[in-house]
Amino acid sequence: MKFFVDTADTKEIRELAATGLLDGVTTNPSLVAKAGRDFFEVLEEICDIVEGPVSAEVTATDHETMLKEGKALAKLAGNIAVKVPLTVDGLKTCKALSSEGTMVNVTLCFSAGQAILAAKAGATFISPFVGRLDDVGADGLQLISEIVEIYNQYPNFTTEVLVASVRGPLHVIESAKMGAHVATLPPAVLRGLFNHPLTDKGLAAFLKDWEGTGQSILDRLKS
Ligand code: E4P
Repeated sequence: MKFFVDTADTKEIRELAATGLLDGVTTNPSLVAKAGRDFFEVLEEICDIVEGPVSAEVTATDHETMLKEGKALAKLAGNIAVKVPLTVDGLKTCKALSSEGTMVNVTLCFSAGQAILAAKAGATFISPFVGRLDDVGADGLQLISEIVEIYNQYPNFTTEVLVASVRGPLHVIESAKMGAHVATLPPAVLRGLFNHPLTDKGLAAFLKDWEGTGQSILDRLKS
């Protein structure tokens, strides 16, 4: 499973990229607003930090302007994935951009039917929002399971399932069990995956016992 980080905060992206475990980045207009910086400048910086896909969302709602915006965003760097909303105009734009070889992330997906349309439009990624479905009393993970099952029936569908609106580790683990290709995680959720209290407790005990031996691995290298 690939891990993207869902943020426009370049400090966070740099720190997480340094782990070697980051495969890409997703942004959206709300995350860019939160970063409080020039959109194009932030995107260029992110594309320099990570080699993998960096999603940048169009803000127009009509096909013609979306296409213009998408082309402008795609010109910024070879690893830009243009993000379009799951609307008729968004999917028309997806089809046009993907036919030209531009990566497209279709966002705001809330049903399996929408995911089928995105695959037919040649999307590189489909982004079902699990957390926002859970928020309204629906089952976000059930949607991931349905989309993975449907896409698996059609080898000509090359669209990757990108689990979005992730709220915690269980969304990641359960989606991975279902075979989702990518999860985009808020930085705190990605950092949280590293942690387990028994790891901390076990490490403290190992180090205490090691200290008692009086030995040092690095000292041995010197001799
Ligand atoms: C995905 O690309 C979106 O940016 C994101 O996952 C939305 O998450 P939210 O529901 O926490 O805003």
